[in-house]
Amino acid sequence: MRSHSLPKAELHIHIEGSLEPEMMVALAQRNGITLPYASVEAVRAAYQFKDLQSFLDLYYAGAQVLQTEQDFYDLTWAYLQKCADQQVRHTEIFFDPQTHCDRGIPFEVVHSGITQALKDARVQLGVSSGLILCFLRHLSAEAAMATLEQALPYRDSILAVGLDSSELGHPPSKFQAVFDRARAEGLLTVAHAGEEGPPEYIWQAIRLLKASRIDHGVRCVEDPALVEYLVEHQIPLTVCPLSNIKLCVFDEMAQHNLKKLMDLGLCVTVNSDDPAYFGGYLAENFDAVESALGLTPAQLVQLAKNSFKASFLPPAEQQSYLQELAIYS
Ligand code: HPA
Ligand code: ZN
Repeated sequence: MRSHSLPKAELHIHIEGSLEPEMMVALAQRNGITLPYASVEAVRAAYQFKDLQSFLDLYYAGAQVLQTEQDFYDLTWAYLQKCADQQVRHTEIFFDPQTHCDRGIPFEVVHSGITQALKDARVQLGVSSGLILCFLRHLSAEAAMATLEQALPYRDSILAVGLDSSELGHPPSKFQAVFDRARAEGLLTVAHAGEEGPPEYIWQAIRLLKASRIDHGVRCVEDPALVEYLVEHQIPLTVCPLSNIKLCVFDEMAQHNLKKLMDLGLCVTVNSDDPAYFGGYLAENFDAVESALGLTPAQLVQLAKNSFKASFLPPAEQQSYLQELAIYS
């Protein structure tokens, strides 16, 4: 089935992770930055990861080429054009302000570049969106709180807060106060949990951070009581198949537990995570699970439906996409 043609939403994409090697090299040139790579091919060849940390080291290094409002606009616009090409009608994107602000780029520069592209995409590409501010969990809770405070003047343009970066050793509990504050300000919450970390981190994301969705969450299967809870409350998992293979969460796609998670009754969604680094955007992730796991057309439609149900779109808009998808099932 050509899942490319299904209307879909994407709920787990780090905008900095959509920086293609071509753009990395072009922005380095534009900003007078010397990269430790001789060519676009050399950048791409470096994308061999053994775990999350080995990826993050390169990902943070790559993000250094992003300096101006135009850079953030161009990055975001290129991703949104991909969305339009692949029938991604709605996307809720993560950004990592600390990656930029800690090297002297003003929050406002990052924010206006991204939000201007999101605004233009609504009009010119028909792609709607939301913005999720992620805290880097390897940094302190105090630094996260300072980042939240910096973002509050822009609060109306931000949908939710999230938690990303190195998971092991940085449990959700570390950020309880920041998430409490974010919720008091009217923001929704999500969190990466159960990618490399144990099921306990997923419980913490739910109980302490009140996460509406769990990003990744594939390790939930290790705790039957947790699976039962996630099914009962239909707390969505934003699963990222190509990412999980590139970061060795599973050895190969045929071993990915996405189909099992669906069979257990979980609200599973498919997402690209960091498409420039992991070898594909949303449609390529659909294709990869379809062929490796033998998903049926009905299951692919279910995944597309789940993407809207799990989104933060108003119920009426969700319904209208579900109706549009009904003709496929
Ligand atoms: N996990 C944690 N942090 C991240 C990821 C991820 O997959 N991608 C970008 N930051
Ligand atoms: Zn992620």
